[in-house]
Amino acid sequence: MNDFDLDSFRIFLHLLAVSVWVGGQIVLAALVPVLRGISPDAPRLVADRFGQVAWPFFTLAVVTGIWNLAEVDIADRSTAYSVTLAVKLLAVTVAGIAAAWHSNTTSAAVRGITGAAGLIGSVVALAFGVMMVWG
Ligand code: HEM
Repeated sequence: MNDFDLDSFRIFLHLLAVSVWVGGQIVLAALVPVLRGISPDAPRLVADRFGQVAWPFFTLAVVTGIWNLAEVDIADRSTAYSVTLAVKLLAVTVAGIAAAWHSNTTSAAVRGITGAAGLIGSVVALAFGVMMVWG
């Protein structure tokens, strides 16, 4: 069996955080129509509870991301790696800002647009994260 060393633990935490943040949004989006059928308040109540879980994991993704940056020597990496990382961090920023806006707006139209932008930004960050390591 392979070792579970500090590097494994770092990537494990990063991917655990990412799976809750990205996977949670996808599952929640799929549940909204059913929740609406239960009561008009159910989507908001469930989304608020999701936020209480998702934001700490977003924070964990950022903290372990910074730890990742400290461990991978960017100066030694290719320009392609740095560009991929830059696009990924832009996607993470868009995801975070859009999700925060989504949670605080009272406009249904803005909630729809920022919800989609948050999910797309998160999925793009996931794809570029994989490209950084496996690309
Ligand atoms: C929603 C936010 C994020 C997502 C979806 C995400 C996703 C990923 C994924 C899928 C990997 C590949 C892991 C592997 O296969 O080994 C990865 C690696 C990495 N991530 Fe993130 N990440 C996020 C946030 C961040 C942030 C904020 C930073 C920097 C501040 C960051 C820096 C890194 C670095 C440097 C690696 C490479 C680690 C290595 O090669 O050891 N990530 N990320």
